[in-house]
Amino acid sequence: MKILITGTSRGIGKATAEQLRLCDHEVREILGQQECDVGNREAVRLYCQKLKQGGFMPDAVILNAGIFPTDVNETFHRDIFDKTFAVNLGGAINLIEEFLPDMLKVGQGHFVGIASTAAFRPNLRAISYPATKIALALALRGFDLHYRDKGVAFSAVYLGPIATNMFEGKKSALVPKAEDVAKMLAGLLESKKPVVYYPFFSTMLARLLLPFSDKSYIAIRKYLLG
Ligand SMILES: NC(=O)c1ccc[n+]([C@@H]2O[C@H](COP(=O)([O-])OP(=O)(O)OC[C@H]3O[C@@H](n4cnc5c(N)ncnc54)[C@H](OP(=O)(O)O)[C@@H]3O)[C@@H](O)[C@H]2O)c1
Repeated sequence: MKILITGTSRGIGKATAEQLRLCDHEVREILGQQECDVGNREAVRLYCQKLKQGGFMPDAVILNAGIFPTDVNETFHRDIFDKTFAVNLGGAINLIEEFLPDMLKVGQGHFVGIASTAAFRPNLRAISYPATKIALALALRGFDLHYRDKGVAFSAVYLGPIATNMFEGKKSALVPKAEDVAKMLAGLLESKKPVVYYPFFSTMLARLLLPFSDKSYIAIRKYLLG
């Protein structure tokens, strides 16, 4: 399979690109914003044009690049909020925009987007991050409703905490490594499930605790995950 994946300079993206190569897939990577800022529509357009001109038309695109900066402390930082939306939501949409028409022409394709259980709740670290992840998840599920029957599938992956640079909590048995996520994503390229929750325990807990208030949830999560 030909696979394009974004955000592979470290973390989940890096581990996934390595895993996919082990599975004999042909992988192209957008390492990070220096190579191509996925939040910049023009830059993504140029990058994808070059890829297509070079004969690389992906069977699957993994929309992994993301940021989780603090946009709220003594004050609210609108510029950071906008940047987070541009990368986490816009970045996915920019790539979908580039490849969806080609995939629909041949009647096959798959987009995988990395959402988060952060999508279920407001967050003390940022206003934007959870809002981008709920928007991303719903956009992917909307695309899936429209296009799966035409051969192009969309998968929304709700990840719990994963031990990468992005996660600021304590590392424990409840927090898988990037390599574990990579194996799950390699399997997802075969199953093409529309919605995935990973890992089981933290994502189940996040869903079971939905009736609790935001403050209670934050206290329980802090106790369990740091
Ligand atoms: N770790 C977790 O606990 C967790 C939980 C739920 C969901 N997720 C999601 O999983 C995905 C991967 O997260 P991670 O933990 O592996 O994070 P990470 O270690 O911080 O890696 C993020 C990757 O995205 C790239 N990136 C950031 N901004 C970019 C831009 N504008 N254009 C292109 N690439 C860009 C980064 O490269 P540069 O810095 O070089 O630009 C880096 O390679 C993200 O979407 C994240 O929201 C993570």
